Amino acid sequence: MTITLTGIQPTGELHLGNYAGAIKPLADLAAEPTRETYVFVADLHALNGRPEPEQLRDRTRKMAAALLACGLDHDRVHVYRQSRVPAVAQITALLANVTSKGTLNRAHAYKALVAANTAAGRDGDHGVNMGLFTYPLLMAADILALRAHEVPVGADQTQHLEISVELARAFGRAYFPGALREPRAVIPRAGGVLPGLDGRKMSKSYENTIPLLAPPEQQAGLVRRIVTDSRRPQDPKDPDTSTLHRAARRVRRPATAQEVRGRYRTGGIGYGEVKALLAEQLPTTLAPMRDRYQALLADSARLDAALHAGERRANQRATETVRLMSSAMGL
Ligand code: TRP
Repeated sequence: MTITLTGIQPTGELHLGNYAGAIKPLADLAAEPTRETYVFVADLHALNGRPEPEQLRDRTRKMAAALLACGLDHDRVHVYRQSRVPAVAQITALLANVTSKGTLNRAHAYKALVAANTAAGRDGDHGVNMGLFTYPLLMAADILALRAHEVPVGADQTQHLEISVELARAFGRAYFPGALREPRAVIPRAGGVLPGLDGRKMSKSYENTIPLLAPPEQQAGLVRRIVTDSRRPQDPKDPDTSTLHRAARRVRRPATAQEVRGRYRTGGIGYGEVKALLAEQLPTTLAPMRDRYQALLADSARLDAALHAGERRANQRATETVRLMSSAMGL
């Protein structure tokens, strides 16, 4: 079995861009019969942004429910909350002693903040808490705790994976070689970036998203807001530069997509028609996920049961790792 592990921050609502770029590829990987997959909501990592406690609790539950609803709910996937696996915090404390401060000084997110502070004439560490500074250390603990072989992450996380490997090796050199498994990053194929309502990459920071699990009417309304130019139905259009086409082809069967492509080129289709179709198809395609999500949020005993099962498994593996590390270190 390939132990596969990833963490997801409890940000607000998942949108279609998150689904297409991260959740769907992860669910596809987890479906492979030779994998055992651990997926956690990184609520400890979220603390460095000092979220409102009630909001963090709410977002953590919603993210967990969303993951379960999006295909990560079979018996080879274990979904858990990071904070419910205390061994992760213990491993962070143990690993800190083989982590050189210089390594964390060089982490991209921290370095970018120091550079921004310095450029603004402030102290480099202005507004930097230790949660932020030690973010890569906690992430290494997540991964090493579960002795993961593979870690699916976005390309922006490669440095964090390198740091995890570095710390596993440092522990091996200091105590015993091979004690901690060195993880490998797997970067899912981008599969073409999903455009947002305005044609830029769909992203929360651009406020151009379609929420994955929002009510059907809201999704349909947003589809109607996708930017188009002023060409009329009979005008020939380039499907590859049309935001609407690039978004719509994702929910079509390949044969239909091919036919629609042809009609764009010859000028046989209008934006209104495409929007009407997408406004109808998209909410329908997403309905099963939305239903599972709503059902989990409505039945907190079921959601708790799923999370407790995942947490039991994660705790078992992580506790073994703590024991091994503690004994190697002389505790
Ligand atoms: N840093 C990751 C992100 O922002 C989230 C994360 C935390 C993670 N711990 C992890 C991902 C461990 C993979 C493995 O996307």
